[in-house]
Amino acid sequence: MTNRPFRPFDFDRDIKAVQRIWIECGWIQDEKDDREAVSVFFKTGEAEVATIHDEVECATHWTPGTVRYQDETLKLGAVTAVTTSHIARKLGFARELTARSLALQKHAGMHVSALGIFDQGFYNQLGYGNGPYETRVQFDPARLKVNAPFRPPQRLTQSHFKEIHHAMANRKMYHGGVVLDSPENTKAELIWTDKPFGLGYFDGPEGSLSHFIWGEMKDESGPYRITMRAYRTNEQLMELLALIKSLGDQIDSFKMLEFGEFQLQDILDQPFRTERTTRGSEYHQHLSAFAYWQFRILDLENCLAKTHLNGPAMKFNLLLTDPLNDILAGESTWQGLTGNYVITLGEESSASQGTDKNLPSLNASINAFSRLWFGVRPASNIAITDDLSGDPKLIAALDQILRLPKPHFGWDF
Ligand SMILES: CC(C)(COP(=O)(O)OP(=O)(O)OC[C@H]1O[C@@H](n2cnc3c(N)ncnc32)[C@H](O)[C@@H]1OP(=O)(O)O)[C@@H](O)C(=O)NCCC(=O)NCCS
Repeated sequence: MTNRPFRPFDFDRDIKAVQRIWIECGWIQDEKDDREAVSVFFKTGEAEVATIHDEVECATHWTPGTVRYQDETLKLGAVTAVTTSHIARKLGFARELTARSLALQKHAGMHVSALGIFDQGFYNQLGYGNGPYETRVQFDPARLKVNAPFRPPQRLTQSHFKEIHHAMANRKMYHGGVVLDSPENTKAELIWTDKPFGLGYFDGPEGSLSHFIWGEMKDESGPYRITMRAYRTNEQLMELLALIKSLGDQIDSFKMLEFGEFQLQDILDQPFRTERTTRGSEYHQHLSAFAYWQFRILDLENCLAKTHLNGPAMKFNLLLTDPLNDILAGESTWQGLTGNYVITLGEESSASQGTDKNLPSLNASINAFSRLWFGVRPASNIAITDDLSGDPKLIAALDQILRLPKPHFGWDF
């Protein structure tokens, strides 16, 4: 990769070229507001660019944040944009710049890295593995069985970006929950929302925004799409659902990712009947599932140090491969996690370099091991389709000890 035309992003010099790339990618319209939101976005986080004739033709952007691992909080490098212009495709720019970005995230102290994918396969080449299925639900708000009383909310606009960011950062959190550090990142997301609506309640400490929904309206009857939401207590969650239901006299349908911690179907009246009678229409009530985000470990030692599991401790050798090792070969940076480790899993867990010939061995790619460690699937499931193998007794023992709830980010980026 040496001598490739890569360098750090320089805002004053490069922002116009980056805006042009985003227009070419169809991510924004060629309009002032959209271009300005790209500027807001690129003023935070870290970006790297590739150039042709000194013009930026590829840019990667990442921003720091955190991710919840059970009751622990890990540092997350959230890869928030990877884009190549129309004249620079297929030169390996995106792949190599993202690899460089991963090395920079590691140097900046990030424990893990994650991103939303345009498709499966591309980021697997960089050590990322699929997250679990996320469920998108489209439902008739009038069919919600919620008893919580309706209380008039306050309107939220883009000018509330700091309040919305604060509410997202302080929301009720479960395993896998993500928080991005930068309020400007949230500001850009709000600006990019078409026909936005925001409704919320300021019940937090000192009158701060405690629970809200934000999203896109569509025509008179929807479907409306909820893109962001947060709450701190179950009562507040029920109040948000009552708020959504209150719009059901007019709006026929809402779309959103399931919250993850409960099944929306549980509180829908006659879900199968409604599914049948709305089938074929724009308001079709249904659920669909897909794994659209990927994840990888960057700092194996620290990830394991923050892992606390029930059951008797177990120890094994991990023979780990990481594709970054080849991509970053010849660079003077960190080159991935390929190597041999002794792993301990239990109330106190650890990873240390080396091999103990008295222990059983697990062979895994960093992609598969990251999925196993994060609780995407049990070891025996991952071993069916992913790059993970070992003695059946070792796989069975991993199934026993790694019993984590499914991780959900709860924050799109
Ligand atoms: C995705 C994108 C960034 C790739 O940029 P790029 O600089 O052309 O990528 P690279 O040159 O590093 O890699 C291209 C290679 O990846 C391969 N590839 C693309 N999608 C793939 C997939 N899903 N699985 C495996 N390989 C894939 C291509 O076939 C190509 O292989 P080749 O060079 O052997 O023909 C570019 O197409 C783009 O900007 N798209 C629009 C914006 C977007 O969706 N960005 C991704 C956000 S998550």
